[in-house]
Amino acid sequence: MEKKKRGSFTGHLGFVLAAAGSAVGVGNLWRFPYLAARDGGGLFILIYLILLLTFGHALMASDIAIGRRTKKSSVDAYASMSPKWKFLGIITFLVPVIIMTYYAVIGGWITRYVVTYFTDEASAAAGDGYFVSFITNPIASSSFAVLFMAMTAFIVYNGVEKGIERASRIMMPLLLIMIIAIAIYSLTLHHTNEDGTLRTGLDGLKVYLVPDLTGLTVHRFLQILLDCTSQLFFSLSVSMGIMITYGSYVKDEVDLGKSATQIEIFDTFVAVIAGAMIIPAIFVFTGADGMSSGPSLMFVSLPKVFNAMGGTIGVIIGAAFFIMATFAALTSCVSVLETVTSNCMEIFHTGRKRTTLVLSLVYIAISVVIALGYSVFYVEVPLPNGTVGQILDIMDYISNSVMMPFISILSSILIGWIMKPEWIIEEMEKNGEKMGRKKIYIVMIKYVTPIVMTILFIQSTGFLNFLA
Ligand code: PFF
Repeated sequence: MEKKKRGSFTGHLGFVLAAAGSAVGVGNLWRFPYLAARDGGGLFILIYLILLLTFGHALMASDIAIGRRTKKSSVDAYASMSPKWKFLGIITFLVPVIIMTYYAVIGGWITRYVVTYFTDEASAAAGDGYFVSFITNPIASSSFAVLFMAMTAFIVYNGVEKGIERASRIMMPLLLIMIIAIAIYSLTLHHTNEDGTLRTGLDGLKVYLVPDLTGLTVHRFLQILLDCTSQLFFSLSVSMGIMITYGSYVKDEVDLGKSATQIEIFDTFVAVIAGAMIIPAIFVFTGADGMSSGPSLMFVSLPKVFNAMGGTIGVIIGAAFFIMATFAALTSCVSVLETVTSNCMEIFHTGRKRTTLVLSLVYIAISVVIALGYSVFYVEVPLPNGTVGQILDIMDYISNSVMMPFISILSSILIGWIMKPEWIIEEMEKNGEKMGRKKIYIVMIKYVTPIVMTILFIQSTGFLNFLA
């Protein structure tokens, strides 16, 4: 029989890299830059940093400490904190269960673009319709989703230390080097338009970093604040049980406060540098208008920019970008599957290998269905927040906009008012460390998180629109 010993990271660095692997994902490379471009550049970055140091750190520390103190994944972790709160563990477990249905599909899209840049299709990718014709092709889109799912399953199958930690130790440093190199290159770009105007990468950097306060109203400011908050907890992978599971693999002697801070720095650094790489490049070739193109930025606008760079260099930069994005998506997808696997192992008392195999087969089938959501199973469903979505968007909306804020509200009530913040602080200070910003932590968990998350929940579910 397979032995059911709990896996663990080898130490501080292994944990930080694996957790950073989860945190750094498509959210950093694509979502952060486009939100920054849309929400006043430096203004967005400044608010994001303030929220990170206060609110984000509190959520991260809580999740990791719950994991290490209980040595369990979300379902059993919440049940062991308070049997009455087991339901919160179950809801938390459902978030990665849902995210896993579509994450490999997006990972598959990214992997497709790696192939694109290694075959002679790079200039085709810059053409209109390339992306749409790929995702609406049932065979192509589902094959890449299956491929990505198989890579994820392989890593999780090999366990915490030999799979997840080892993959993160290789991919995360490479990702860091690549992103810094492309950002430096991006800042050296310049381009003269047909009308003779010259735009440089440094002009683009200014657009990105200088706070733009034009037309700022209270309403707009609140909107930016909400964008920052939702980006923050999506980016840090908190409130979805993932950091609880990873925290449960951390050895007792590791300094949790220092680890949490390093994960946050890694995650934010990659997001800010991703903006410094993408925004100047798009600005140089398409001007200010090309930037807030939203979701299509990564798959439609960027290939155009790589093409405009011209010749071999455009292909090399394009290939490097999509390889890096594949690493980012893969380590994040691994953390989602690991969390589902770990909870299932605890619920059903099964071994890792068998659990991973069964889950992988189930998710391969589901990923194919979601991938076919742009062709065979195409639907247009109006969502409460005013957008119209396909199956993938519906899953994303349920997990990120409805469940995650809801979980944050309940878990901050459980920690702040029932277990009390000291329960977390004790774990953070277990080896005689001093938890930094302790007062801020208490205020965040007891008051700020429940209030801010309730506002976010009301806003993102469009609940107020129903009342109006
Ligand atoms: N934190 C990842 C990012 O910023 O892209 C996204 C993510 C990973 C979300 C894992 C959800 C998840 F379960």
